[in-house]
Amino acid sequence: METRILIVDDEKMIYSILAKRLSKEGYACVMANNGREALGLFYKNDFSLIISDIRMPEMDGLELLRNVRAVRPNMMFIIMTAHPEINMAVEAIRVGVTDFIIKPVDLELVSFSVKKALEQKKMEEELESYHNNLKKLVEERTAKLQKTLLVLKKSHLDSVKVLAGAIDAKDPYTRGHSDRVRRMSMRIAAQLGFNQERQESLVFGALLHDIGKIGIRDEVLQKKGQLTPEEYQYVQQHPLIGVKIVEGIDFFKDKISMIRNHHEHYDGRGYPDGLIGEVIPLEARIIGVPDAFDAMTSLRPHRRAMPVEDVLLEMEKGKGRQFDPQILEIFLNEKIYQ
Ligand SMILES: [Fe+2]
Repeated sequence: METRILIVDDEKMIYSILAKRLSKEGYACVMANNGREALGLFYKNDFSLIISDIRMPEMDGLELLRNVRAVRPNMMFIIMTAHPEINMAVEAIRVGVTDFIIKPVDLELVSFSVKKALEQKKMEEELESYHNNLKKLVEERTAKLQKTLLVLKKSHLDSVKVLAGAIDAKDPYTRGHSDRVRRMSMRIAAQLGFNQERQESLVFGALLHDIGKIGIRDEVLQKKGQLTPEEYQYVQQHPLIGVKIVEGIDFFKDKISMIRNHHEHYDGRGYPDGLIGEVIPLEARIIGVPDAFDAMTSLRPHRRAMPVEDVLLEMEKGKGRQFDPQILEIFLNEKIYQ
């Protein structure tokens, strides 16, 4: 493609001299008599370079430069002037002129200046295309990584679900318990406006809150009939056993409090630490509500499953006692249990 140069000057003579020289060097030259005419040509054509006089009728060179820059900030633009005034030069530099030529024009200098400007243009274009390619590459790689991360996250979640299923299977009466607690906890978290990171953490904490039951003997977990006080105390060890199982694993660091404190009561009468109110980590307070609901509505060895309405009445009584009042309200008002 030919390199087109727009020469803007109200003196035809200057144009002829420049065009003759530049044509010899293989450039295609187009003439404009003033800034306004040049701007019209610029809008309709693709020029590689503009060489413009400053003082011209209708629109001067600086105004032309400003208009051109507004559309193409990288357009190569050489100013030509017979009146080298310092404030005009400063203004031209401020608007981003590529080079200056002082009249009367020295053709060698013009030729050099044109070559230099076109080389700069080429380099800028190469750099831009390099940046664009790089950007595209980064976007492609990022998308690929995000996809891989999603697959990894899902397979991780799947394996933790299997583990949660194994925990529930220790106790034949709690099949699906962990997953139901997870589902209800997530709905509460959404009501509380948890961000994605906190929600993801809660998913795992809720699924594994009872992981310590792995360390509780089957004959106690599966005992038909009431537990003795000693057995009950023994079962109450499961939050601390859970902590022992996961501590030291980096991924579980932020879930430890959910495993340890899901049996704390808002009034401080829970276990294992007897924490009170908001001192109990929020995630643990959340898990505690659906955990209690699901336990009461499930068939237990020593009693029948309670009807949902009775369970809800029972839970209402525990507001501010066993349960965080705000979380219990969300649980009941939003019918999280359904
Ligand atoms: Fe538990």
